[in-house]
Amino acid sequence: MIIGIPKEIMPGEARVAAGPETVKKFIADGATVLVEHKAGEGSYYFDDDYKAAGAQIVASVEELFEKADLILKVKEPLFNTGCNKHEVDLMHEGQYLITFIHPASPVNHEMVNRLAAKGVISMTLDGVPRISRAQSMDALTSMSTCAGYKGILLAANAMPKFMPPMFTAVGSVQPAKVLVIGVGVGGLQALATAKRLGAVTYATDIRPAALEQAQSLGAKVIETGVPAEMAIAEGGYANELSGEWLLKEREKLREMMKGMDVVFCSALVPGKIAPVLITEEMVKEASNGSVIVDISIDQGGNCEITPPGKTEIKHGVTLIGIKNIPGMLPGSATWMFSNNVYNLVKYLTKDGKIALDMSDEIVKSILVSIHGKVVHTGALEAMNKR
Ligand code: NAI
Repeated sequence: MIIGIPKEIMPGEARVAAGPETVKKFIADGATVLVEHKAGEGSYYFDDDYKAAGAQIVASVEELFEKADLILKVKEPLFNTGCNKHEVDLMHEGQYLITFIHPASPVNHEMVNRLAAKGVISMTLDGVPRISRAQSMDALTSMSTCAGYKGILLAANAMPKFMPPMFTAVGSVQPAKVLVIGVGVGGLQALATAKRLGAVTYATDIRPAALEQAQSLGAKVIETGVPAEMAIAEGGYANELSGEWLLKEREKLREMMKGMDVVFCSALVPGKIAPVLITEEMVKEASNGSVIVDISIDQGGNCEITPPGKTEIKHGVTLIGIKNIPGMLPGSATWMFSNNVYNLVKYLTKDGKIALDMSDEIVKSILVSIHGKVVHTGALEAMNKR
């Protein structure tokens, strides 16, 4: 099997789908690995590192796409201004693609249909189910871990104050107060990071299990008052709240937010837009100089005035709406991503070739296109809704 690792082409994307460590593992498993010239530079992996791992460096992206049986990427296929072709047009029938495709998102529908029409067998990493046996393949969880950690560092940097307590010759400084709303993967990592920086941490979530985990990380837990039967959906995930309960939760949050130095927003209901939990009025009431980091911005944001993709100060509060936070931690993000992808490819490979077991839960939920058709349930639902 020939595996191709192109350079990511989304502006500012520093990650790459495989580092030298995983390239070495693919080669040990019998694969040939082609890496595009300078593909790993953003993550501080250089061509010589890949060569030492046994990869072949390819200067032309067109040649790489032509020769590879399997393309591994980080971001969905995009237009490559370097060779003036869309990445979908560089692909061929029967070629495999593994990357984050976000196939249900309307902006990707045309691209997904074109992947299918080309006969590409595409698989999306955002489809990896959160089940125990898929944990080592779950790149979404890895990226949320990166976003939780780096997001708190961004807040610490934007804050006009110290994060930890300080005992100085001119008096003592109280530790910062950090509230995390939505303590899933990203939120728990944010809590742990804030705690390590010396902050006093507070957490809220509608799932009691999430609050228990937050408590075990030393956070003071604040109940939202949403009854568990309303909060939890099938499979233990959070439920979308009705307008009435959302209003009640906002009232609670309004009180909680008073005196906070950092509010970290990572509340999400799978497959839905993010619940709006902080209104502009609530931002007006927040402490001057406080920071809101809204990592749910890709799903619309938990705060109604978070600027998508940007950092802005509004009503004396710094609002951070940066979208690709894991990309700001490219070394660790690439390392985690590469290992997740390696584990997934290994799982899908039999006798040196990808062999998809169509009855397998993981395969069923990651597959986007095969045999000329789009087969991803979420994408098909979203397309019919249009
Ligand atoms: P997750 O699904 O593990 O956690 C979401 C949490 O929100 C759950 O614990 C859930 O119970 C809670 N929640 C849902 N509704 C709520 C409500 N009304 N009130 C309070 N809590 C509520 O999600 P994960 O993986 O931690 O991701 C969180 C967000 O971060 C997602 O929107 C994800 O897309 C985003 N993300 C953003 C990145 C960036 O660079 N901006 C990178 C990685 C993830």
